[in-house]
Amino acid sequence: MGREIAIDLGTANTLVYRQGEGIVFNEPTVIALNGSTGKVEFAGAEAWQMLGGPRGNRSVVRPLRHGVMTEFDMTQQMIAIVLRKIGVPKFPKPRVVVSVSSESSPVELRAVREAVRFAGGRNPVLVEEGLAAAIGAGLPIHEPVGNLIIDVGGGTTEMAVVSMGGVVSGRSVRTGGFDMDASIRDHFRTRYGVTIGERAAEELKVAIGAAFPTPDRMVAVVSGREIASGAPRKVRVTEDEIRLAMAEPVQAIVDAARQTLAEAPQELTHDVLETGMFLTGGGGLVRGMDLLLAQECEVPVHLTERPLETVVLGAGAMLDHLDEYRSSFQLVRRR
Ligand SMILES: Nc1ncnc2c1ncn2[C@@H]1O[C@H](COP(=O)(O)OP(=O)(O)OP(=O)(O)O)[C@@H](O)[C@H]1O
Ligand SMILES: [Mg+2]
Repeated sequence: MGREIAIDLGTANTLVYRQGEGIVFNEPTVIALNGSTGKVEFAGAEAWQMLGGPRGNRSVVRPLRHGVMTEFDMTQQMIAIVLRKIGVPKFPKPRVVVSVSSESSPVELRAVREAVRFAGGRNPVLVEEGLAAAIGAGLPIHEPVGNLIIDVGGGTTEMAVVSMGGVVSGRSVRTGGFDMDASIRDHFRTRYGVTIGERAAEELKVAIGAAFPTPDRMVAVVSGREIASGAPRKVRVTEDEIRLAMAEPVQAIVDAARQTLAEAPQELTHDVLETGMFLTGGGGLVRGMDLLLAQECEVPVHLTERPLETVVLGAGAMLDHLDEYRSSFQLVRRR
């Protein structure tokens, strides 16, 4: 048994799984850069804490946008810091499985491989997030049946129909939980002339946001700043109002799920209609997301047990079978 590792480098959260141990790292995908050298000084929770507090001359950023590396150098340094934190040996170097968006371009895929090698990994194997999620959800992916998984992340939503060990069809849209936060912020600007922070918007979404009306009728009071005067201002909002404010990105996700179903091979659609779709990712935790998907797609929807961990658990499960399955687990679809 080796000490190979699996990485889910998400737009919102980075998770690392080590063979024989399970999840050994689970922190926000955030880095703090030194203002004069531009070097990454902190990554993960430490950098995240600086977002809201004193940070000296550092700038704090998210190095991924919509699931892909926008800042190659920074992402590379971030992976190196994460692997150092969990104590990856220089020799023998671990093998590394990395989950990637199915929308990644060849250039982006090469960048991920290079970043992992730079950080001290050997022979990086890339796996589509949809496939990793299906494995993590415990679906019978090797059987000749269709399994539909939908992973709503912070920056992307990946949908995949998996059968016979590979992704048969699917799509990915660059819409996720962060877009819901952005829509909520827009709503405060246009409706109240108030700006609220990214974190406030996310907290509000988690607290009272919903994709489908709930019987709870929650309300919240949010602190922001009046755009005209700069003065602090508190705004009271209702669940209904926030649900409508974030409806556009939510609907984009639902539409994509419907299209994925429509495009799935006929013989597999039948299975999906019967067993339903499996919902995962942090965005799957949005209240009523399962109900809305079930209503609009007319299939049963099951939320996985650990939505934020499903992808890395699936990529981690692959480590025990890397040689056996390597070819079928490689990124299968190319555009
Ligand atoms: N309880 C919750 N209710 C609503 N949204 C939540 C909840 N928990 C997490 N989220 C949202 O889930 C998103 C993060 O999910 P996840 O960690 O799966 O994304 P990621 O894998 O980092 O991103 P991606 O896969 O798009 O690259 C964030 O937008 C966050 O606000
Ligand atoms: Mg993800």
